[in-house]
Amino acid sequence: MTRPPGFPPGPAKTETSPAPRPVVRPAEADDAALLAALHAASFTASAGGREVWSADVMEQLLRGSGSRALIVELDGRPQGLVLVRLAGGEAEILTLGVRADARRRGCGRALMDSALDLCADSGAGRLYLEVADDNLAARTLYQNLGFSHVGSRKAYYKRGKGRPADAFVFAKEIKTRDDFRAGSTCHGTSIGSQIGKT
Ligand SMILES: CC(C)(COP(=O)(O)OP(=O)(O)OC[C@H]1O[C@@H](n2cnc3c(N)ncnc32)[C@H](O)[C@@H]1OP(=O)(O)O)[C@@H](O)C(=O)NCCC(=O)NCCS
Repeated sequence: MTRPPGFPPGPAKTETSPAPRPVVRPAEADDAALLAALHAASFTASAGGREVWSADVMEQLLRGSGSRALIVELDGRPQGLVLVRLAGGEAEILTLGVRADARRRGCGRALMDSALDLCADSGAGRLYLEVADDNLAARTLYQNLGFSHVGSRKAYYKRGKGRPADAFVFAKEIKTRDDFRAGSTCHGTSIGSQIGKT
């Protein structure tokens, strides 16, 4: 509708830019220090009490043929990581973390979606991970992605003077690219047999 001349303008439109979408990329050979920094920024004592992984450890993982690292970015800025180990037709999440100030913006979900795609592309028919029973954020994320609780390790995560937390072992079946081609599923068992199923 056209306003008559001299009529005061209406309220100014507020321009809100859309929230940036998480973008996941594979880690490069020179990302070891960045991966270590992201891991340190993601894990505090309250997030599972895990030890911080050094750049040297990350470098070894990047060099290893069985491990893959992915980095998530928002507006081109790195916010989190996931490390995946592939072996014998199965896979394991070694670690997943998002910087505390970047959470609830889809980064964790984007990392896990990419990790699942990576497994499917690599022929890994099952993906395992461990999560502390008191880590509600991670447990909710995994359960919403279709992971099932397949085992536990009692009192696995130390909590200072508090009660140690149990580790829940979660797993998810994955349709690999070969499954789609053959119309069938075939899974190995090597990683699963290494993870305690008590
Ligand atoms: C777990 C973690 C990676 C999630 O990352 P994130 O970027 O915040 O996750 P997302 O924004 O993609 O959230 C995806 C879903 O996870 C669940 N979720 C995430 N944070 C949650 C919280 N604090 N409480 C309950 N559910 C939560 C929700 O279902 C969420 O979907 P929604 O936002 O549509 O409700 C992050 O909290 C983290 O780094 N924690 C510390 C390290 C850690 O515990 N790693 C996992 C070890 S097993």
